[in-house]
Amino acid sequence: MRIYHLAAECYPVAKVGGLADVVGALPKYQNLAGMDAAVVIPYYDRKFTRENEFDVIFKAVTLLDTKRLYFEVLKEKTNKLGFELYLIRIPGLLDRKEVYMYPDEREQFIAFQLAFLDWISYSQQSPDIIHCHDHHVGLIPFLLQHSKLYTALSHTPTVFTIHNGQYHGVLSWSKFSYLPEVDMTQTGLLDWANAINPLAAAVKCCTKFTTVSPSYLEELSVSSNGLEYLFYLEHAKGSGIINGIDTEVWNPKTDPMISAKFTTTKLAQGKQKNKEELCARFNLAPELPLISFIGRLVMEKGADLLAESISRSIAEHPGKVNFLILGAGDPGMEQGLRELKTMLPGQCNIFIGYDEALAHQVYAGSDFLLMPSRVEPCGLNQLYALRYGTVPVVRSTGGLKDTVIDFGDEGGYGIRFNQASVNDICYSVSRALILYENQQHLQLLRKRMMALDFSWDRSAKEYITLYESLKTII
Ligand code: ADP
Ligand code: GLC
Repeated sequence: MRIYHLAAECYPVAKVGGLADVVGALPKYQNLAGMDAAVVIPYYDRKFTRENEFDVIFKAVTLLDTKRLYFEVLKEKTNKLGFELYLIRIPGLLDRKEVYMYPDEREQFIAFQLAFLDWISYSQQSPDIIHCHDHHVGLIPFLLQHSKLYTALSHTPTVFTIHNGQYHGVLSWSKFSYLPEVDMTQTGLLDWANAINPLAAAVKCCTKFTTVSPSYLEELSVSSNGLEYLFYLEHAKGSGIINGIDTEVWNPKTDPMISAKFTTTKLAQGKQKNKEELCARFNLAPELPLISFIGRLVMEKGADLLAESISRSIAEHPGKVNFLILGAGDPGMEQGLRELKTMLPGQCNIFIGYDEALAHQVYAGSDFLLMPSRVEPCGLNQLYALRYGTVPVVRSTGGLKDTVIDFGDEGGYGIRFNQASVNDICYSVSRALILYENQQHLQLLRKRMMALDFSWDRSAKEYITLYESLKTII
């Protein structure tokens, strides 16, 4: 079965968050299960694209409004990622360093989608499934069905996966001219609240949509930034499939990015060595419990609660706990955390920025990983933490609820709390410190969490079952 995955990010080519991890791993595991899955993303001027070899396999011109855009499709020569990787390059539009945040972002992603559709229709390909991820490629299901340019592909089933339902990629109707000629009787499918809403259009027009955890599917009908009624109406078309992790990239036994590799047999020593390395680098005390946070510094992740929760926890437990933050995002939150660092030297340290290798070391060397997310469609950090024997301390929402069982419950291994609030975080920190005092219990929980299987094997197969079911619908 031939599947094209389309997205804005793919690890290790271009990563901003978990979307990249999923798009860089799911197709690999689908191929291991006998599929023929390929990935198509925009071309970025990044280390991976500079250091690898590509063939230009297709060249053409697409039309965005009145602009004629020359584009090329590049294919990575060796399939080294475990799947065919295609990059669409449009000089001046899709050849930049960053993935997001350009003022013409809407034009970038519309042009990407048009170039993709032009390429597969001109080259007369007929994939079995087109699998789109998030709003950046949300117009494809609509265009396939309602633009006569793509009639030959109109019966191709589309799967749309929602990694983040907070962002919709909305654009004003004044930009309608960016789209190719479409059936004017169907344009209502593009609309939500008097604007073109690519996320809404995708949910309406795709054959099936999925969310990255079952709980998140339910939450979208209650909270999705204005699309609640749509998710209520379309609920039957959706299913929740929990993300997996790439167990080759995230493996404490072989991970080249951590200072001491370890397994469950020498778990305590292995983690302690990693912690010592981390504490030496960040001027923290390796004998104290270390609670870390990794992630985008945004409200969704509850990052605005970190500074106050940390200073209050340290005041409640003086000399008993250390904190480490790795993240970047909102400038106000970054500044608040920098100030905290100067107020609490030796007890709390902050690394503002994005550092993949450091993230691995933090998962390996921390005792606890804090995730006070307000919204967490799946969350991969807690899964990486579990794999590295680090106790996740999570707010009960979305994928966190589906993957972390509180250690007070049967078979549990993590710490859960209900509210994204300073009170709940501080209470959970206190529980973490009590757990840390009982090293025997802690080691038992670490072994239990490291034995869990959150690999892609299971979830990749769930997607395949979904694809198979679409054959009968079409
Ligand atoms: P999201 O995609 O919403 O940001 P996820 O939990 O799905 O959240 O995935 C986040 C991914 O990004 C993980 O691989 C995490 O390790 C990584 N990450 C987030 N912030 C940083 C950072 N500052 N440095 C390195 N890796 C980071
Ligand atoms: C999004 C979500 C995150 C999820 C990731 C991968 O960025 O915020 O919870 O893990 O996508 O699906």
